[in-house]
Amino acid sequence: MSTTADYSEKIPNNVNLHEDRRLQRALESWQPNFLNWWQTMGPTLPTRDVYLRTAINVGRDGWAQFGHVAMPEYRWGIFLAERDPGRKVGFGEHKGEPVWDKVPGEYRAELQRLIVIQGDTEPASVEQQRNLGATAPSLYDLRNLFQVNVEEGRHLWAMVYLLHAYFGREGREEAEELLHRNSGSLDSPRILGAFNEETPDWLSFYMFTYFTDRDGKYQLGTLKESAFDPLSRTCEFMLKEEAHHMMVGTTGVDRIVQRTVEVMREHDTDDVAGLGAIPLPVIQKYINFHYSVSLDLFGGDTSTNVANYYTAGLKGRWLEDRRKDDHKLASDSIMVDALSDEANGERSIGQTEVSALVGLNTDLRREYIADCQGGVKRWNRILEEGGVRQRLKLPHVAFNRKVGAFAGIEATPDGEQVPASEWQRRQGQWLPTDVDKTYVRSLMQPVHERGKIAAWIAPPRNGINGQPFDYDYVHLS
Ligand SMILES: [Fe+2]
Ligand SMILES: [Fe+2]
Repeated sequence: MSTTADYSEKIPNNVNLHEDRRLQRALESWQPNFLNWWQTMGPTLPTRDVYLRTAINVGRDGWAQFGHVAMPEYRWGIFLAERDPGRKVGFGEHKGEPVWDKVPGEYRAELQRLIVIQGDTEPASVEQQRNLGATAPSLYDLRNLFQVNVEEGRHLWAMVYLLHAYFGREGREEAEELLHRNSGSLDSPRILGAFNEETPDWLSFYMFTYFTDRDGKYQLGTLKESAFDPLSRTCEFMLKEEAHHMMVGTTGVDRIVQRTVEVMREHDTDDVAGLGAIPLPVIQKYINFHYSVSLDLFGGDTSTNVANYYTAGLKGRWLEDRRKDDHKLASDSIMVDALSDEANGERSIGQTEVSALVGLNTDLRREYIADCQGGVKRWNRILEEGGVRQRLKLPHVAFNRKVGAFAGIEATPDGEQVPASEWQRRQGQWLPTDVDKTYVRSLMQPVHERGKIAAWIAPPRNGINGQPFDYDYVHLS
């Protein structure tokens, strides 16, 4: 198989699409629907062109090219990481067997479901972010928003390719549905909760790309381990693009914290609301919100479905091959979050031991949590270096949960269980209130002038692809 994309084709690809006329025709008939979705549900800010990265190759020596592109003409394509002909299943009951090039009949429904759920998140975030262009703090940020958007569009293509190529008529129907469901829609919402929340401002955008896109990274990491080789190779390449989305989130929050510190010092006050910066307590509340809804994306603390996916070889663990165990887990156990029964009949925040297979969601969530700590550490370093004594932190896992063991209780960010009435009274201290949101929104005045930046965020250290910050990243129309 060649790894260089064929750009003479309507749909750029490295899967020799021209050799399968039926599949090619099916995807070419989905393409106008995708473009129609992009025009109606994608970015609303009118632009002439944007300095974008386009995937052109999956090989080691350079896989992308940069240039100004009119967004509807972006070359969304189908790219799978190179095939490893000797690849073996790395876990579960098929461990050691050759990986699958086709979908085994007995796992068809499960694999289709996993692909649909992943696929559904990709266009969802584009929909959530569609109005942000109008309030971008700089052309650099605007460009990054659009880069994330077009790549999420490409990730949709990646999942739709799998559905069309391997799941027949049902797959094609699911591909249509991916365009019909919409984020926040009452009639046909997106499948997962966090993807129906709005992303109304840029603080939310950076939090989303930090916390929620990072969930995506971990989900892709487990699918990359799949015995179904086309899924594995697709996800491997998506992870490459995903790294930029993480960078946008991480450095976006860095720059907001940086600016807040500067204003705090300049005016010798903690109260920077009204001084054009975002107060640290508001940043903390946004962390609390985005982190807790992202924890929910990992599903229940225990799951027999996920145990079955693992045993069947459909979905592995994060960095499966670095785990030092038998990769079957039949006799291992894990402690998972749970409510424990107390002597007085109350139920309190605790843990319980379950079989490792059943606790795989917990295993993945913990990997994710450890990764999230990295951001908080960075942001606290900025605070420390700025001579500010406050610190940011991740809230307790029981805080604001709608899924899993703690869905039925209320807990403070410190993990103290509180009655529902107290939660009602105090939640405004922990989650963004209407006042907070209105203030943040009031700061969102567009800065679309080359080399300029909004007052609530510091400029980036580096531009994109070696270009300076004041490069003409976007031409508005
Ligand atoms: Fe994605
Ligand atoms: Fe992403």
